[in-house]
Amino acid sequence: MRIVRAHEFGGVDKLVLDTIDAPAPGPGQVRIAVRAMGVNPVDWKLLSGKAPVLPPLPLVPGGDVAGVVDAVGEGVTGFARGDRVFAHPGLTGGYAESIVLVDDIVAPIGGDITCPQAAAIPLVALTAWQAFAADGRDLSGLKVLVHNAAGGVGSVAVQIAKARGAHVIGSASDANAEFVRGLGADEVVDFRNTSPGSMARDMDVLLDLVGNSLESGLWALVREGGSVLRVAGGATAPAEEVVDGVRSYKVRVRPNGAQLRELSAMMDRGELRADIAATFPLAAATDALRLSMVGHTRGKIVLTAD
Ligand SMILES: NC(=O)c1ccc[n+]([C@@H]2O[C@H](COP(=O)([O-])OP(=O)(O)OC[C@H]3O[C@@H](n4cnc5c(N)ncnc54)[C@H](OP(=O)(O)O)[C@@H]3O)[C@@H](O)[C@H]2O)c1
Repeated sequence: MRIVRAHEFGGVDKLVLDTIDAPAPGPGQVRIAVRAMGVNPVDWKLLSGKAPVLPPLPLVPGGDVAGVVDAVGEGVTGFARGDRVFAHPGLTGGYAESIVLVDDIVAPIGGDITCPQAAAIPLVALTAWQAFAADGRDLSGLKVLVHNAAGGVGSVAVQIAKARGAHVIGSASDANAEFVRGLGADEVVDFRNTSPGSMARDMDVLLDLVGNSLESGLWALVREGGSVLRVAGGATAPAEEVVDGVRSYKVRVRPNGAQLRELSAMMDRGELRADIAATFPLAAATDALRLSMVGHTRGKIVLTAD
């Protein structure tokens, strides 16, 4: 099988396309013949070698896979060969034509969903799901501000919050405003042109996908008793703290098959869709990562194993 990996840190140019034997599934594991992989900013952040915690080398980037089960290990009862599935394997391991995963982090994908569409979902949607779970409140009727609503995480967070009955305000540039409204946002604001000082302190939840909520004054828009969900930034912040009557939670995405099943059901019901900004073949992963690094992705970048 082909696998894209780096044998040293130093950026996306360190990636090479290698060919190795496909792994065999152990007890409780399934092997997926991967058809599509998601690209996320963490991929190039890890490759830079400058992330606070680094995985071992060789580093195989990739936090999303979608494909077909082609082998199951002893004791696996929930999946069989031929099942179409997707997963967030963790922050690494996805850029490969074959991957072995424990069965409880894998979920089925509906018949109408293509592998590229499915591969665009796991990491970003689990991030949004787990961020809202950290807050723990029923979002129905709450005002939720998604700061960076047009990117990978934001574009699914808007849809999840809307499906739960929230009033959603998305932050995005004018160029992305219509796109974010199309995802279901009730309002769109560009905080690069609009001062938060002109807005009321009436947000219940702020999902920070930029990492500048304190410095930019967005934190001050959250009402007392509300919450800030720090997906980006806050590297040195405690896991949970209260600042100015607002509770903040540091969110770090984790694999979770049960949550992925719920997200898969949302896709089947038409409540959650992937927006694919660009598709590259696996062998052009470096080009895909360079595009992600520009920082203007609308939706997701996806690799295919063709
Ligand atoms: N903690 C975790 O577990 C976790 C999980 C997933 C992601 N993350 C992090 O969360 C961040 C977002 O991830 P992502 O995948 O959504 O990134 P992404 O898809 O690369 O985000 C790109 C989008 O960001 C927008 N943007 C940039 N600066 C903005 C600003 N100041 N205000 C509004 N929009 C802005 C861009 O819009 P324009 O084109 O208009 O500039 C573009 O649409 C990254 O730092 C990522 O590493 C963390």
